[in-house]
Amino acid sequence: MRAMELNGVGGPEVMEWGKGPDPAPAHGEVLIDVVAAGVNRADLLQRRGMYPPPAGASEILGLECSGVIAELGDGVRDWRVGDRVCALLSGGAYAERVAVPATQVLPVPDGLDLAAAAALPEAAVTVWSNLVMTAGLHAGQLVLIHGGGSGIGTHAIQVATRRGARVAVTAGSDEKLARCAELGASVLINYRERDFVEVVRAEQGLGGPGADIILDIMGAAYLSRNVDALAPHGHLVVIGMQGGVKGELNLAALLGKWGTVHATNVRNRPAVGTGSKAEIVAQVRGQLWPAIAEGQIVPVVHAELPITEAAEAHRLLDGSGTFGKVVLRVREE
Ligand SMILES: NC(=O)c1ccc[n+]([C@@H]2O[C@H](COP(=O)([O-])OP(=O)(O)OC[C@H]3O[C@@H](n4cnc5c(N)ncnc54)[C@H](OP(=O)(O)O)[C@@H]3O)[C@@H](O)[C@H]2O)c1
Repeated sequence: MRAMELNGVGGPEVMEWGKGPDPAPAHGEVLIDVVAAGVNRADLLQRRGMYPPPAGASEILGLECSGVIAELGDGVRDWRVGDRVCALLSGGAYAERVAVPATQVLPVPDGLDLAAAAALPEAAVTVWSNLVMTAGLHAGQLVLIHGGGSGIGTHAIQVATRRGARVAVTAGSDEKLARCAELGASVLINYRERDFVEVVRAEQGLGGPGADIILDIMGAAYLSRNVDALAPHGHLVVIGMQGGVKGELNLAALLGKWGTVHATNVRNRPAVGTGSKAEIVAQVRGQLWPAIAEGQIVPVVHAELPITEAAEAHRLLDGSGTFGKVVLRVREE
């Protein structure tokens, strides 16, 4: 099959639309004819040799895809050949076909374009597992989402507001903030001009001044300010380390407000069992997917490019001009 090859590690130019081994569905897996692949920051890191796939996962880039089921592995009963789906992967989306556990597959609702659906699995699973399952998101809370215009941020704003929370976002431009407001954010912070701690502490969370939940992508650079911005009983959930991996945690500040710091990732979770991809996907399907089927939560796609232009897609994501996700089209529907 055609698949993305890496000629060594390095810049976007190391990617070449070449050939890869044909996957076959193992027991409990389905084979998907890929229509589109979502692009994630993790792909850029893997291309640079900084984020190797977990043991046993495909070496081919790509953590999410959409497409049509082409074949069922033994033991798969819930899916049919021809179903329009999207899926959370541990790798392998930048290819014509991919095999994935059936428990990581989600149906694409009628009326939703398959290319747009490729933008959903990674954001949906990351946001649901962190905001809802880890931090216990509920109505009335104040949620601070760093990078509101990111692929993750644009989805997180919609999930949090739909569950009745008030959303504060940071972004690097007023244009992005205006678009975050259209998605439901109500406290808009241009991090180049204002200190998010001051702004958020002037707001009231359920626990008191500050944010009840912070979804963080900056890691070390924001660690102490995030703790300062937490409301009493608040949860800081770190999912990205764009500002470095090692920071100093002021335990007295955290302890004084009975706060919690979490740090999680999706890719290395087990396929099944407690805290697994299967468990999260099942919750996403049961509790989030109806809102997607009804169009109340929408995939935000900044650009769709052909897979042969993957290098340009990576350059786009590496810049700061994107709002939402970038997807790569592998074949027409
Ligand atoms: N742990 C997990 O399982 C998991 C899963 C998926 C993604 N992630 C992480 O989540 C993050 C977002 O991923 P993505 O694919 O959605 O990335 P993306 O679309 O490329 O977005 C990156 C964002 O970072 C923002 N940013 C840069 N500097 C900032 C600052 N100082 N303060 C606030 N925001 C800043 C940018 O906003 P401006 O352009 O406005 O500056 C941009 O929107 C990444 O760090 C990724 O690694 C983690």
